[in-house]
Amino acid sequence: MQALRHRASRQTVEMPVIDIHNHFFPRTWPDFAARFGTPNWPWIKHTDPGKAEIMVGDRFFRHIYSACWDPEVRLQEMDRDRIEVQVISATPVLFAYDRPTEHALDCAKLFNDAALEICGHGKGRLKSLCQVPLQDIDASCEELSRCMRAGHLGAQIGNHLGEKNLDDPGIVTFLHHCADEGAAVLVHPWDMFGQSRMPRYMMPWTVGMPAETQLGIVALILSGAFDKLPKNLRICFAHGGGSFAFLLGRLQNAWEHHPIAHGNCDLPPKRYLDRFYVDSAVFDGRALQFLVETMGAERVMLGSDYPFPLGEHGIGSLIRSSGFASAEKELLLGGNAEKFLGLRTESTHTGASEPAKPIEPRGDQLTYSSYLRVPELLQLQHPQSRPEHHDELLFIIVHQTYELWFKELLHDLDGVVASLRASAANPKSHDHVYEAARLLRRCTEITRVLVEQFTILETMLPTHFLAFRGKLEPASGFQSEQFRELEFLCGLKDEKMLRYHRPTPEAYAQLERRLREPSVHDAFFDALRAMGKLTIPEGATERERLDARARAVLSLYRDEHSHRDWIDVCERLTEFDELVVSWRLRHIQLVERIIGMRMGTGGSAGSSYLKLTLDKKFFPELWEARTLLTE
Ligand code: HEM
Repeated sequence: MQALRHRASRQTVEMPVIDIHNHFFPRTWPDFAARFGTPNWPWIKHTDPGKAEIMVGDRFFRHIYSACWDPEVRLQEMDRDRIEVQVISATPVLFAYDRPTEHALDCAKLFNDAALEICGHGKGRLKSLCQVPLQDIDASCEELSRCMRAGHLGAQIGNHLGEKNLDDPGIVTFLHHCADEGAAVLVHPWDMFGQSRMPRYMMPWTVGMPAETQLGIVALILSGAFDKLPKNLRICFAHGGGSFAFLLGRLQNAWEHHPIAHGNCDLPPKRYLDRFYVDSAVFDGRALQFLVETMGAERVMLGSDYPFPLGEHGIGSLIRSSGFASAEKELLLGGNAEKFLGLRTESTHTGASEPAKPIEPRGDQLTYSSYLRVPELLQLQHPQSRPEHHDELLFIIVHQTYELWFKELLHDLDGVVASLRASAANPKSHDHVYEAARLLRRCTEITRVLVEQFTILETMLPTHFLAFRGKLEPASGFQSEQFRELEFLCGLKDEKMLRYHRPTPEAYAQLERRLREPSVHDAFFDALRAMGKLTIPEGATERERLDARARAVLSLYRDEHSHRDWIDVCERLTEFDELVVSWRLRHIQLVERIIGMRMGTGGSAGSSYLKLTLDKKFFPELWEARTLLTE
């Protein structure tokens, strides 16, 4: 076993190589046609030693050999190909989805138990996925639970059920159940459409299957099923996800430009790539490269389709011979599969002679890393300089940290808007006002950190930045969608700034939404209006409106005793405004320290442009009220 381990580049980590997509047939099984009195069941005809044919009724279906049923043969071939673990699943011809439930369930149980029997002789290197009678969701859930208890790691299902795609409510319920059970799901194309037009040359396999798989993924995305399904569902699509990755651009384009192609999903199609895995069975180095670039290295897993003729000959050779960095190869060859399957990573890596480890969580339990998605997070830094400049990593990480805090700020400010609106709906209650003040205090504390954080970047010499700056153009802070969202959400809605987001339609759409939605500014003054503190006469000019709002604030401060809660909100908003100006100022100082008075990569005049933004305030009325107080 030790010899089989794929040695990782980092000395301390050994990653098992796991093949998540391959098939078995038991050596024999009962004559279903006789048992159920219905024709055209699959059966096995042994022809020569170690060889057999799968028949469906009278029709020849496929030649197979002993690796399908004999664990010894399989293990020898796994040794030959340096595969440590295989996850076996039945072949879709055994699904029986179009039969009565009792027959399909009986059949599923038989093959599920047969799979465990094979795994039992697999020296710990064979694991399995079960099959379920998908035509009956209750029975499917029950069989899945039974199988999980018995030792299966999840289920393999077909990509459709007759006319129903994967977004069928029953199938979505089943997927939900899989997430609850911690079961991995492998979706396999089957029963390909258009077969009457593809009678020859295995076209249903080479043309129909990729389209079927693509259809399965697209159905889950556009129907909004992924929005409803829990994020801990681990689902993988076979054969590299079929034609999905290659045609994702087409799908995205349709989503953006045709309302009818929009479906019911919350996000554009590209934003769902972190919801599923695909296997590596694409048989072409460039296709694998493209697949990994599209899906991300943490979303593709070794899958061979072994031991069938259409499977990978020399399992894993496509990944091993690819040009990916060794850390990425580790993920593709086994790291991702461990997560997908919920395998206990430590036990897989630990030899018997090693000292006992502290208590380890079960494979399906959360760990520090799995909860925080640490491996994915650490994969997200991609310096552009060649050879890589030492300081570019810092530059990336500092920006990413800002973006993470921007995300939290947006989240909290959305909470502030919700509290202020709740308060406007119920002006007598103080709870929502306290909640708004509490969240605003968090926002000011975060922003204080954001002001401070520039000092870290100032440890970078200007010459060091210039060494890789050329690689960044035309990327610029102008394109920080979240920064602009923050401005819009606080009330500084400048439609002109949308133009920097034209290249990214999702960001553009999100900013347009923010332009339409009530800002913190709107929600705050709506609440004062609901309290009877603010009335703006019809036809008032912009200046008169601002004046009326400032006087509403003034009235709060003048009656401190009755409005302590609201004054707290006002103080927090003022402080936030102040801190954002501090952020702008520190950013300008950083810019001047690093690039002097040069133009920005976004095409602005640089520091002199940024100085113009120092006058921007989210809540000018709060400042104006201070002038009025001294009247
Ligand atoms: C070497 C460090 C940096 C330099 C030289 C720099 C330079 C600039 C320049 C020149 C601009 C004006 C737009 C343009 O023409 O590109 C700008 C805008 C911006 N930068 Fe930076 N920046 C740096 C670091 C950062 C960091 C760490 C952040 C954190 C998120 C950031 C966020 C922004 C934002 C949000 C804008 C748009 C500001 C607005 O429109 O008001 N920058 N930056």
